[in-house]
Amino acid sequence: MTSTATAEDYRDRFVQRLSQNMPGRKEFVIEHAEGCTLTDAEGRTYLDMTSGIGVANVGHSHPRVVEAVQRQMTRYAHVNVYGRFVVPEQVEMVDRLVAAAGPGFDMAYLLSTGAEANECALKLARKVTGRPKFVAFERAYHGRSFGALSVSWREEWRTPFGPLLPEVEFVPYDDLAAAAAAIDDRTAAVIVEPIQGEGGIRVPSDDFLPGLRALCDAAGALLIADEVQGGMGRSGTWFSHQHWDVVPDIITTAKATGGGLPLAAVLSQAERFATFSDPPLSHLTTMGGNPVACAAGIAAYDVIVEDELLEHATAMGEYLRAGLSALGPNFPGMVADVRGRGLWCALEVTVDANPLVNRMQELGVLVGSVLNQSGTIRIMPPLVITTAQIDTFLTALRTAMAEAA
Ligand SMILES: Cc1ncc(COP(=O)(O)O)c(C=O)c1O
Repeated sequence: MTSTATAEDYRDRFVQRLSQNMPGRKEFVIEHAEGCTLTDAEGRTYLDMTSGIGVANVGHSHPRVVEAVQRQMTRYAHVNVYGRFVVPEQVEMVDRLVAAAGPGFDMAYLLSTGAEANECALKLARKVTGRPKFVAFERAYHGRSFGALSVSWREEWRTPFGPLLPEVEFVPYDDLAAAAAAIDDRTAAVIVEPIQGEGGIRVPSDDFLPGLRALCDAAGALLIADEVQGGMGRSGTWFSHQHWDVVPDIITTAKATGGGLPLAAVLSQAERFATFSDPPLSHLTTMGGNPVACAAGIAAYDVIVEDELLEHATAMGEYLRAGLSALGPNFPGMVADVRGRGLWCALEVTVDANPLVNRMQELGVLVGSVLNQSGTIRIMPPLVITTAQIDTFLTALRTAMAEAA
């Protein structure tokens, strides 16, 4: 930062100038981020167990991502979209995403954010099927734009912005009978987080996603897997639905896809995307697939492969959950549940989670809550975390819980 403004100036101007939905003055002025740590303007270092809510999967400022961004910036940043130029970075990025998605996927549309990816997926489902209705799940979160909001669950965040999409039916997550009753011949798509993020890192029963697949097939509806939070190795597989034997029709991914820069994708098949060409230009975005974001995304993807971060996330996730589960007996009645897959974990407590989260920050460890489930502490560190760093986190958590007990 070249400005001479002090951290205190920034604290003041931040609340004066930036529209914030979260009331209150913010104390943490960010100075630097590297690997699994953040440093504030006063030089204090924190262990980041949030990854910027699932973005920094390869860690902050990964040298290979930084180098790729610098290299791309010297070539070009933004040129033109809408198919005017061939952008090699986009081709390389999509090749990787299609490989990660596996059989059933041969094409992607690139965007910038998770909400945009879900907007595109919902439009694609309507265009392909010609049907109006969507089925979504209780506790789901898909973003804040109108379409994404229409299929997101919490009513207090939807109602003030109505009318939204007219035919959306919410059913309980992990309840196949309820889904069966809702999915019919008017259903364009079922949109599901294969593991729910903002709903509290909820891992469904083993028959849920294969069951949804069968229900969609029977009704001629598409299955959209929202992997915005669960993608890019977070749960120990490229995409979280890959823990089960199920192939969705459409995958949406964002957050970690751009290695820290805004990049999102809708993955599906060429014949479905062809419907957007009738008439041509039926879906557009100026910044989607930005070459610098693609260069960062390519580097991040390659880091995950070369450093075997899927395997590492699986191993570290088991170590982390074992440590969390071991806390329970020391704090009788305080731990309601420990769950998750890979490095995507929830600790559900029976006390107010917010003071614990705040105390952890004072102790130098950043954790978070989730939007649609109170009492849940979200733990999703960069996939490069070590056992020593997990031990540091567990020590701080033990201290905070002992004080709260
Ligand atoms: C599952 C899921 N879908 C969509 C979104 C929206 O993504 P964005 O904030 O990039 O619009 C989020 C954001 O947290 C998410 O967790």
